[in-house]
Amino acid sequence: MEFSEVVRTRRMTRDFTGEPVGREVIERCLDLAVRSPSAGKTQGWRVVGLLGNDTAAYWDAALPATARGSFAFPGLLRAAFVGVVTVSPRAYVERYGEPDKSRTGLGAGRGAWPVPYWTVDGAMATMTFLHALHDEGLGALFFAVAHENDVRAVLGIPDEAEIIGAVAAGQPTQGDVRKGASASRRRRSGADAVTWGRWA
Ligand SMILES: Cc1cc2nc3c(=O)[nH]c(=O)nc-3n(C[C@H](O)[C@H](O)[C@H](O)COP(=O)(O)O)c2cc1C
Repeated sequence: MEFSEVVRTRRMTRDFTGEPVGREVIERCLDLAVRSPSAGKTQGWRVVGLLGNDTAAYWDAALPATARGSFAFPGLLRAAFVGVVTVSPRAYVERYGEPDKSRTGLGAGRGAWPVPYWTVDGAMATMTFLHALHDEGLGALFFAVAHENDVRAVLGIPDEAEIIGAVAAGQPTQGDVRKGASASRRRRSGADAVTWGRWA
């Protein structure tokens, strides 16, 4: 697909067929995600990935059986891939303590950072990942991780790694599937998104 088509046709997918997706497809998409910009080229993000039957461990922690009956998007649990996206503030503090960055003062600790670049980098990489998945013909959803402590425990994610969300991906179900609650909100135009010259 042309880049503009990838961007224009990508939509969050919440209903999957259950068809398997190979690890190599996910790693090919991550090969594009690692091309994303990164402050100080720290690249302090990591995805904890699960494929096929292994995704059950995620859902058992994040969506306990008692809550499943009323879950709005049961087809999300058929996603062939679930990846928890984590970022490491410590990696950024260490990187900015290196000689070429020490003048920034950001090596002093995470409290010195006016903008958490670990979150910015994780978001940029995730966006590229979502576009790459779509370009592969897969559907994908970025979503909030519920029951975070249970997810951490089952996936062995240390406290030092911040979870910014999860990506589910797989073959999308065709046809009339339930949309997200925000889907009907108007999308801004590019002109709506800019104020030229001065804040107004
Ligand atoms: C930071 C962030 C968090 C989101 N969290 C959720 C979520 O928890 N559940 C969900 O169904 N969609 C979630 N979404 C998807 C948005 O609802 C969706 O991107 C938005 O409605 C626009 O739709 P589109 O991406 O299909 O164009 C999230 C998106 C972002 C960027």
